[in-house]
Amino acid sequence: MTTAHSPRALLGGLTPAEFLARHWQKSPLLIRGALPDFDSPLEPDDLAGLACEDGIESRLVEEQGPDKAWQVSHGPFDESTFARLPESGWSLLVQAVDHYVPEVAELLGAFDFLPSWRLDDIMVSYAPPGGSVGPHVDQYDVFLLQTSGQRRWQLGGKVEDDAAIIPGIDLRILERFEVEADSDWVLEPGDMLYLPPGWAHHGVSQSDDCMTFSVGFRAPSGDEIVTGFADYVGEQMGDSRRYADDDLQPPSHPTELDDGAIERVRQLLLEAIDRPDQIAQWFGRAMTQPKYLDQLVAAETPTDPGTLRQALEAGGELHHSPGSRFAWRNLDDTRATLFADGDALVCDAALAKRLATDSPIDASVLVWPEAERVLAALLDAGSLSGLEPDDADS
Ligand code: SIN
Ligand code: CO
Repeated sequence: MTTAHSPRALLGGLTPAEFLARHWQKSPLLIRGALPDFDSPLEPDDLAGLACEDGIESRLVEEQGPDKAWQVSHGPFDESTFARLPESGWSLLVQAVDHYVPEVAELLGAFDFLPSWRLDDIMVSYAPPGGSVGPHVDQYDVFLLQTSGQRRWQLGGKVEDDAAIIPGIDLRILERFEVEADSDWVLEPGDMLYLPPGWAHHGVSQSDDCMTFSVGFRAPSGDEIVTGFADYVGEQMGDSRRYADDDLQPPSHPTELDDGAIERVRQLLLEAIDRPDQIAQWFGRAMTQPKYLDQLVAAETPTDPGTLRQALEAGGELHHSPGSRFAWRNLDDTRATLFADGDALVCDAALAKRLATDSPIDASVLVWPEAERVLAALLDAGSLSGLEPDDADS
């Protein structure tokens, strides 16, 4: 078993602990031969096919578009779009390919040294020679894996939040981009580049089969955390908890908001915020919200736990629905909250840990108390799939 203390080829021979200490959120790392045997499960035509499907998020970036420079169009596309494209100078980007192609999702297993709930998705891009999305900055950590062809990557160092971007175009392209020393490489298939948030980068295709997988991580903004938690905790407070001033003294000026008033509000806010249990309940829900809410398909009729048990005992298997997000947190020595797709349920701690792990779920989980109740709830919500209740009869 690989641990935080075993060096990994994926990390250029660093252990996960070393990578996290030296590079994660701090500095880029070029890794030659990170996944030398990774055979791309997608050809450029497969990617174009995904970009033609309804409900799949895709973008086409054309350096010299039909209407303007750096034109961005959004999918679904059709064959006529691809037929009119020139031989160079464009990129096709498809989000969340891990949700649609199981072999792409399997790649995520290699990133098990990071919390799975930090993952956003795997975006896949294809570009003919000269294709790029321009020099830019992303707010997220990303591992850029070259899966076929060559891409030249140039890095421009850490950029301030207010760095100037070219006005009046569809993309956020940096107005100034200066390549730093020792930051200019051509990546070959199997090579990977890790970038922390806020690092200027520019990747240009060098071949007619250039495909790049972006394993992207997400982090909620301060605004999202404050407003998200405030909404959650506010709902739990009830209407009777109000601004209260039973210590009120006659005011010097009736129109003044005095220090006493501000302090009473501050105390109410601190009391609402200083609740680690509530923070955990909110954060687990927030970090397991699915990327695309409409991908979650709830069952039309509730699953009967007994029938489900029989179906599993008859050899049936369940698995995480594509795009579903799971996490867990212990409540005490034996119980945990299992978070799935923005919802939460309490169950045996070992069961929560097992169900959050993305591997087929079979009858072996039935040893835990109430397992069939938990599985039925997850099936009904659409977080698990793979087994119809009728399967119990077969
Ligand atoms: C790309 O794959 O073309 C762009 C990825 C990135 O720069 O974030
Ligand atoms: Co980028």
